[in-house]
Amino acid sequence: MVPLWSPLIVASLFLLIRLLRKRDPLPPGPPRRPFIGNLFDVPFDNPLAAFETWRKQYGEIVYMQVLGNSIVVLNTMNSIVDLLERRPWNYSHRPVFTMVGELMGLDRAIGLNNRHKVWRQQRKLASIALSPQGIKQYMPLQERLAAVLLSELEERPDRLAGLCDLTAARLILEITYGISVENMDNSYIAEAEDIFELSNTSLHGFHYQVMPPLLVVEHVLKAFVSRPFEYVKDQMEAGNTKPSLVSTLLSNRSDVEGLDFEEIVKWTAGTMYGAGGESTAVTLKSFILAMALHPDVQAKAQKELDMFLNGSRLPTVEDRASLPYVNACIKEIFRWHVALPLGMPRRAEKDDVYKGWALNIVLCVVAY
Ligand code: HEM
Repeated sequence: MVPLWSPLIVASLFLLIRLLRKRDPLPPGPPRRPFIGNLFDVPFDNPLAAFETWRKQYGEIVYMQVLGNSIVVLNTMNSIVDLLERRPWNYSHRPVFTMVGELMGLDRAIGLNNRHKVWRQQRKLASIALSPQGIKQYMPLQERLAAVLLSELEERPDRLAGLCDLTAARLILEITYGISVENMDNSYIAEAEDIFELSNTSLHGFHYQVMPPLLVVEHVLKAFVSRPFEYVKDQMEAGNTKPSLVSTLLSNRSDVEGLDFEEIVKWTAGTMYGAGGESTAVTLKSFILAMALHPDVQAKAQKELDMFLNGSRLPTVEDRASLPYVNACIKEIFRWHVALPLGMPRRAEKDDVYKGWALNIVLCVVAY
């Protein structure tokens, strides 16, 4: 007969072995406070500043804890490629964003989607529009809209920021849905603005008591992704198809068993507008700001343009290769003031070890 206390001995031995087992150390990182960890070490309005200080202090990969969540900050290209590109099976997942994702329903957008099968299809469809080859088709449109922006700025220089926003919105709406817009009062733009405002509030320092009723959110979100999509479908049915990402995808259906193809197209297109509009507008404004802050650089760029074009026409995308200084100024914006300096966070599926450091079920923040 087995004595009653023997399972206790086995359990104690098991625990002892676990405790004595040599564990891989955690990556270096700032000291953590009990319970809250590093909650107050990362400023909400400028996390990058803290991550940059930590990079100098702790190196390429920094460990922190926030309210029990393990987070690593990937600070170098090497660590990003090693983990996110070379181990995609573990690091391609998104964290669950309870408010902005689950409750507001934005987890159907590509950047927040955790349903892997759907996400893969969305990325496949988005890459039709965003591949190096795919983007060439938008160059004439970009050149036309740049000319419109310049003539509008000549008339209303006081509306600089608003006109940059309008140009970005025009570009993305035309590419995604074939919709041309005149001004910012357009209802598609107004609906998108509502969504950006709600999601920004919810992502940064959200307070539950000021959250609008979720029914309102659902209504705004539905309008944002459904209305332009239904517009394209109606146009196609009426035999009036304009070239756009949505009409291209709907005319070349690639159904996948068990997935709703139209729903995938609808959310892929919705994400394009959400992801591409603000980032493009911010980049445009950063460029103008940089030129205003550095008139000597602006003068050199202008001189290169004048020498090459001789005042005969506006520059085109193809001219970039012949305008090295202007081209360098454009690239500098993506270094100096990139619109999205941190990538979207990733969630690891399983514990991992990297360069001898233990990465136990972590969230990854890309800060390079
Ligand atoms: C200067 C302009 C832009 C910047 C700086 C930028 C930056 C980024 C960044 C940092 C991410 C997150 C990547 C990650 O960590 O996983 C992202 C995602 C994305 N961006 Fe952009 N972006 C820009 C313009 C655009 C445009 C014009 C479009 C489309 C028309 C677009 C579509 C997307 C999409 C669909 C995703 C989600 C990808 C995924 O989660 O798989 N972006 N972008």
